[in-house]
Amino acid sequence: MLDPWETGQIKDYERIMREFGIDRFDPTRLPDAPPLPRLFKERIVFGQRGFSTILNRMRSGEPFAVLTGLMPSGRMHLGHKMVIDQIKYFQEFESHIIVAVADIEAYATRGMDLKSSEKLAIDSYIRNYLALGLGKEGFEIYFQSKRQDVKDIAIEVGKKVNLSTMKAIYGFNDSTNMSHMHAPLIQAGDILHPQKRLGPIPVVVPVGIDQDPHIRLCRDLASSFRIFNATVTADGKIGVFVKVDNNVEKYLNQAKAAMERLGFLDMKMMPRYKALYVNGAIPEDVPRMDEALALVEGKAGEPGYMPPASTYHRFIMGLTGDKMSSSKPETAIFLDDDPKFAGKKIMKAITGGRETAEEQREKGGDPNNCSVFEMMLFHTVDDEKEIDRISQECRSGERLCGQCKKEASAHLEEFLADLKERRDQTEHLIKMYVRHD
Ligand code: TRP
Ligand code: SF4
Repeated sequence: MLDPWETGQIKDYERIMREFGIDRFDPTRLPDAPPLPRLFKERIVFGQRGFSTILNRMRSGEPFAVLTGLMPSGRMHLGHKMVIDQIKYFQEFESHIIVAVADIEAYATRGMDLKSSEKLAIDSYIRNYLALGLGKEGFEIYFQSKRQDVKDIAIEVGKKVNLSTMKAIYGFNDSTNMSHMHAPLIQAGDILHPQKRLGPIPVVVPVGIDQDPHIRLCRDLASSFRIFNATVTADGKIGVFVKVDNNVEKYLNQAKAAMERLGFLDMKMMPRYKALYVNGAIPEDVPRMDEALALVEGKAGEPGYMPPASTYHRFIMGLTGDKMSSSKPETAIFLDDDPKFAGKKIMKAITGGRETAEEQREKGGDPNNCSVFEMMLFHTVDDEKEIDRISQECRSGERLCGQCKKEASAHLEEFLADLKERRDQTEHLIKMYVRHD
């Protein structure tokens, strides 16, 4: 089980992928321009569900939506920045970018009141998001507690899941409070509501791997409302199946018309099997078929939710070797840390160095197991050549941790000071992008 509220450092990402059926994220399939962010190239974003729908949109220039969320309980640290780096890339495409402030979740699971959540969300997270470069036309940040569509969908989808499933996914027990149990439904409301507002549109949710239980649940909930299921059958055909028992012929005819509009002309309808076989379609066609069918459902007054896609990033190593976490300040670099103070934390961080300088000169260090190197790689050193040089020097024993930490803290101080300056100029952007409905 992955517990979204209590995940520690994860050692074996391959195992998690196998266990939960997460697909690999393949950065080589992304368009070349704009340039890929480091975390794609370095495979820090390692997994995905349903991402091919988004990939198709990125390639064709058609619109998609990106929805992510933040829970305002601790302060924003470097680990949280990884989602923002992804969004910065996605916002270069024809995309709607939407950020949920999970104030209901913070109330339900961390005991935060809504007013304090709002202040914390804006001061510690949103200001940094904007300072890091989020924002373009149509970008919006909203609060769960203020958005009626989100709460409506939570109630709507709650009907399709029972307590035993929720216990199996999340490990809830008899003393879990009811608002906490309901929080995943609110999150499903976050993830699905762009389709209610914008019509059927592929949505991608970039998150840390700890959020996968929510994604799995939400994808199941989305499918459970569908009338049609477009899929590749066991014998390799491509079919549209009607999942309900009433009006089967009417739905099959509507599906046929929708497929014709996509250019498929050779079809075979088998009402007895509630099936429409689409000859000439290939598996890669299924996402756009699904989208056309979702549109038909929408027109028929049904929700027609397409399953959301997701991307998963690894956790950044904390300064102590554990996961970076705001509930353990000694593990984290917070984006609003005083730069000098943050620099000092680096000097005390766990590295991949050897016991003694002598041993290190002889055998070299291990940058792949070093919180200082990871911080430079993920966050503070832009120049690829410089990163390669640092890694080389570390491995060969030329570089010792003391000197390396000094450099790293200088980089970090510069980064944080620059960010602070930008953060101080975000007031007008907050007015522009933060919604109160
Ligand atoms: N549960 C997420 C967290 O703990 C926050 C969140 C709320 C979220 N709604 C979301 C994340 C929708 C992604 C999509 O950080
Ligand atoms: Fe890490 Fe630098 Fe030490 Fe290598 S030399 S282990 S990169 S701190």
